[in-house]
Amino acid sequence: MADARELADIAAELARAAGDVLRQRPADLGIESKSTPTDAVTVMDRAAEKVVIEGLRVRRPGDRVVAEESGDSTGASRVVWYVDPLDGTVNYLYGLPPYAVSIAAFVDGQPAAGAVYDVSRDELFLGVAGGGATCNGSPLACRRQTDPALSLVATGFGYDAAFRLAQARVVSALLPQVRDIRRAGSAALDLCSVAAGRVDAYYEAGMHIWDWAAGALIAREAGARVDGLAGRPTGEGVTLAANPALFDAMHELLISAGAGHLLPPS
Ligand code: IPD
Repeated sequence: MADARELADIAAELARAAGDVLRQRPADLGIESKSTPTDAVTVMDRAAEKVVIEGLRVRRPGDRVVAEESGDSTGASRVVWYVDPLDGTVNYLYGLPPYAVSIAAFVDGQPAAGAVYDVSRDELFLGVAGGGATCNGSPLACRRQTDPALSLVATGFGYDAAFRLAQARVVSALLPQVRDIRRAGSAALDLCSVAAGRVDAYYEAGMHIWDWAAGALIAREAGARVDGLAGRPTGEGVTLAANPALFDAMHELLISAGAGHLLPPS
């Protein structure tokens, strides 16, 4: 059984390798649609994912791998990997930063290690359960702001039009009550931005586990609380990340903005 640090080293190595693939951006991205016409996948998502999956097969042959583009594989060990080879696909399509590779390892259902590699900024965010969070080796700590009115809040939106309308209603109720809103385009990096103190808080509804698995560990290891609203687990409905005091205040605002009912289309 590998320890969390060894799993983090593998995640970091493979996130960088997938990032190198994404840098070779071809003229024709071979764009196809997934859940909606705006939910895209490119040949580069698939090429980057292949590098990660093949790397895991060699280094951790008994582990289960859940990957955004190729689905779920079986594995008999206690380790499960969650892989998003290109988080921020729409940014990538437009040649707009940021976009990232996100890889997390869970052991017995608990987050153990996570790597998020911001390809355009060449920043590797790493989290090790109980071992802290770093960016390119430097320790991370989230901001200590406690007043939502002075907080810069990141968020994101899903791909389904009706769900986006519900998300828009929440953000319009929230906007007058916070410093400002940011929509960077990568959930994994939004969570790393909380960890790095580049925003005060982040919330989003309807994410997939590969979007948040690595970033949530990194944010937690930097001192943030990452959880669902109203007692829901992370990833179910709205996920909120902020330092613990701001978490409580933002939780209250989000509930009064109607975010407690934001559930993605099934
Ligand atoms: C998306 C991004 C985006 C978030 C969406 C995700 P993708 O992931 O993380 O910021 O708002 O909810 O689906 O499609 O680029 O892998």
